Amino acid sequence: MIYFAMSKGRLVEKSAALLEKCGVDVSVLREDTRKLVLESADKKYGFFLVKPADVPVYVESGVADLGIAGKDTLLEEDRDLYELLDLGFGKCRLCLAGYPTRKSALTSPHLRVATKYINTAKRIFAERGEEVELIKLNGSVELAPVTGLADVIFDVVETGSTLKANGLAVLEEVITGVSARLIANKVSLKLKSAEILPLVEKISEAIS
Ligand code: PRP
Repeated sequence: MIYFAMSKGRLVEKSAALLEKCGVDVSVLREDTRKLVLESADKKYGFFLVKPADVPVYVESGVADLGIAGKDTLLEEDRDLYELLDLGFGKCRLCLAGYPTRKSALTSPHLRVATKYINTAKRIFAERGEEVELIKLNGSVELAPVTGLADVIFDVVETGSTLKANGLAVLEEVITGVSARLIANKVSLKLKSAEILPLVEKISEAIS
């Protein structure tokens, strides 16, 4: 059996559609259930439904053989695993965002940055040689500049509609080309290569 770690978030539908195209029976993923471990009817595949940030955790540990995670999550988690394919969907960018009239805030010596991506933000600002105050949030990050908790946010922007709805805008694109990736556990790829490699080949063909 091949075990997949799948995020319960925005990637799940497109991930399921792609796997289906490759002959994986994903009907269990479309059931309305609170179960977190699902098996395909043919017993060839198992699915663990986890939070997006936990997909690399399950794959690195080997509990899951394969996973589908956003590049934003992979950068943030920095786990020891193989990134096999760029799946091309879930396209977004990691940006600094805030009030468009306050772009000068970016050069302020006491910049307060709210983010879910604390490790990535640390790396980025260290590379830039800028000292900032990072404020870790777990969601609804756009609220931080609106309420005065932070000056700007470092967050993922897909359509831009959440920023727009809150009167905010992209101030600087920091990392572009973020998208969903197929990831694999290093040991699984060796031990289960006979099952995993043909599937990876099919997925590669399906996205090309
Ligand atoms: C992400 C991100 C933004 C939004 C961007 O949050 O943190 O808030 O999506 O998408 P958009 O550009 O298409 O508006 P998510 O929906 O994952 O929810 P969260 O606030 O709970 O983290």
